[in-house]
Amino acid sequence: MPDKPLKVGLAGLGTVGGALARLMAARRDDFVARTGRSPEIVAFSARSDGDRALPLEGAVFFADPVTMAEKADIDVFVELIGGAEGPAYAAVKAALARGVPVVTANKAMLAAHGLELAEMAERSGVSLAYEAAVGGGVPVIKTLREALAGNRILRVSGILNGTCNYILSRMETERLPFDVCLKEAQRLGYAEADPTFDVGGFDTAHKLSILASLAFGARIDAGAVTVEGIETITLADLAAADDLGFRIKLLGVAARTDHGVEQRVHPTMIAKSSALAQTMGVLNAVTIDGDAVGALTLIGPGAGGAATASAVAADLVDLARGAVAPAFGRPVGALVEAERASLQRHEGGYYVRLSVLDKPGSLAAIARRMADRAISMESIVQKRAGGDDAAYVSVALITHATTETAIREALALTLQDGVVRDKPQLIRIERA
Ligand code: HSE
Repeated sequence: MPDKPLKVGLAGLGTVGGALARLMAARRDDFVARTGRSPEIVAFSARSDGDRALPLEGAVFFADPVTMAEKADIDVFVELIGGAEGPAYAAVKAALARGVPVVTANKAMLAAHGLELAEMAERSGVSLAYEAAVGGGVPVIKTLREALAGNRILRVSGILNGTCNYILSRMETERLPFDVCLKEAQRLGYAEADPTFDVGGFDTAHKLSILASLAFGARIDAGAVTVEGIETITLADLAAADDLGFRIKLLGVAARTDHGVEQRVHPTMIAKSSALAQTMGVLNAVTIDGDAVGALTLIGPGAGGAATASAVAADLVDLARGAVAPAFGRPVGALVEAERASLQRHEGGYYVRLSVLDKPGSLAAIARRMADRAISMESIVQKRAGGDDAAYVSVALITHATTETAIREALALTLQDGVVRDKPQLIRIERA
């Protein structure tokens, strides 16, 4: 008797959608052996039905993904269109309302509407699966939701955007400018349709808000994430970090603190010896601290067609087996409202790069402002002026742990004192 098919409706045939169609064809026998069901893409929706040399023979083309979600004879709706609103959101709602399970890679949509969609899935008794939405091919969703279910998670920190990690790695190792590295990342299919989502830190923030919900059993609170991108990072910062024993990475950090849950995305200095610092190129890495398991780090390809399709395929295997789990690890009604921790109370070390007037007393004035706020300095590197103005020298310093408020106040005062010019560069240091 032929195996019962798993009828898939695939919306979106970009880098990931195309890779998924190829992967499903290549792994069909294995899929059948694992699940007893044979996966068939029976319907697809894309900008055009033109020949893409993809194995989609016999699949019905829908110009509108919402119509496909509403009408097609499918067992699962796979959403790989992207975007928080618009057709992706409308089509996913249409599928869930009809009781069709959904697999999506859409982190922006989940960050904005995840709770509403999870509730719809619960009402219909079907899955909303999204392993591919965070970490690309790195199975961090299943790890947090299932493998670490016996833990109280204290902290999740990681490199969650392949494009930014690729750019920072290339800038550092090849000493290439930011724009050249971004173009390369786009060419390789890592970047979002609008790459400001990547370099501005927003993609990382979407992913972090999803991880924070899973980690802390909390309602998604994307508005609570402080976001800074990598656009201001210069080759001088990367070189100074190197001199001081650090690397600069765009990290997303979600942590329980004494004053609530901290969620922040920003360029971060981390010790070169750490696993996160050694994660280069398009790789993502996530370190999870659980009370029982301790610290656990997952590293792997964070973007790109095949890697992301690998995560979508894993969700399809679960669905074919009939698994239905609450999207965020527990029913939406059981998720708590986490208290937001203010970034001003954040405590840690800081890297500061200043353009300092080269005259007696300048450094002493800076040191005085730091001392007034009980900020202790760990190291200082001064570089001879080589730029446009010999009257100024570049000074990079590292502080011991202090608060965000203290360092910002001290730097504002050094600007007022007239011993530095331009806005200082400030990068938080993270233990990793
Ligand atoms: N633009 C994203 C990245 C794709 O660079 O990581 C994967 O979500």
